[in-house]
Amino acid sequence: MYLNEKVVENRLVGHPGQAIYKMVLKGQAAQTAQPGQFVHIRVAESFDPLLRRPLSIAGINREREEITIYYRVAGKGTRLLSQIRANEYLSVLGPLGTGFTIPRDGEFLLIAGGIGVFPIYSLMEAVAQPQVKIKLFWGGENKEFLESAGLKHLQDLGIDYEITTLDGSLGQQGLVTDPFRKYLAEVSNSFAGVKDKTKTPPLWAAACGPPGMLKAVTEICLENGIPLEVSLEERMACGVGACLGCVCTVRDAAGNLRRKRACKDGPVFEAKEVVWDAGV
Ligand SMILES: Cc1cc2nc3c(=O)[nH]c(=O)nc-3n(C[C@H](O)[C@H](O)[C@H](O)COP(=O)(O)OP(=O)(O)OC[C@H]3O[C@@H](n4cnc5c(N)ncnc54)[C@H](O)[C@@H]3O)c2cc1C
Ligand code: FES
Repeated sequence: MYLNEKVVENRLVGHPGQAIYKMVLKGQAAQTAQPGQFVHIRVAESFDPLLRRPLSIAGINREREEITIYYRVAGKGTRLLSQIRANEYLSVLGPLGTGFTIPRDGEFLLIAGGIGVFPIYSLMEAVAQPQVKIKLFWGGENKEFLESAGLKHLQDLGIDYEITTLDGSLGQQGLVTDPFRKYLAEVSNSFAGVKDKTKTPPLWAAACGPPGMLKAVTEICLENGIPLEVSLEERMACGVGACLGCVCTVRDAAGNLRRKRACKDGPVFEAKEVVWDAGV
């Protein structure tokens, strides 16, 4: 679980003002990594910052023994990480957590908000296409952000996507839930005449992004009877289920409220079990 991974690449991607970095790590993590899992990285040799920083696994290449991570410089830890050079080694705990379920048929709807797209990258790559049709809805602040966070990568993958920006500088202006809701209405209309629902392709959904977006996507999916998994990015300390620093509230099948650890029981949960406004 404690690994020493070699930094193959660590560089700024896109517009400098967006401060988004791509890091490729070579070592054992790639052997077992699954989409939706994360690695907990020690960012400094000293005890400041004391805690590791969790980052999602955005790409997995088992043959080359490499995982890819994208991160946005948010504070001290990620700033220190951005200063690490190729060929240095990093202490990595992981891969950690419970990842996404990968559908084997039907249409897979992916909804990402901001940097929530990073775990979605490895998920898309793990899905067998064309047996499963993928459609991504991705919302960000503006054009510069989307370009820096991987728009070209999506184009290279040939993914069917719709994008939104808050300022309208690219794609549709507004929230990512707008085109998602519209698309579901179109799908529903196109199958309106089909009485036997087993004749319509199953829909699955997965989402990662800010809590407000995840809550809205959950409501839309529940209304439309679509199974949804969400990745919760709670703040984390130990990362392995010991400190309870990342608990979230879920409702079990009997309706009882339970605490679950985002780092170990998640970060991916069935959306229908998450209690969004519970606090902790
Ligand atoms: C499971 C998981 C996966 C993640 N994957 C990625 C990823 O792939 N790429 C990426 O850029 N970031 C990701 N994050 C967020 C990332 O861990 C934080 O941005 C990072 O730990 C911040 O550390 P820092 O020392 O740079 O900033 P800090 O000084 O610790 O914080 C700076 C700012 O970021 C906010 N912040 C810190 N952690 C989080 C968090 N978990 N959620 C929301 N806001 C936070 C703080 O409130 C503060 O405003 C992930 C978080 C989790 C829990
Ligand atoms: S971070 Fe310690 S239990 Fe999740």
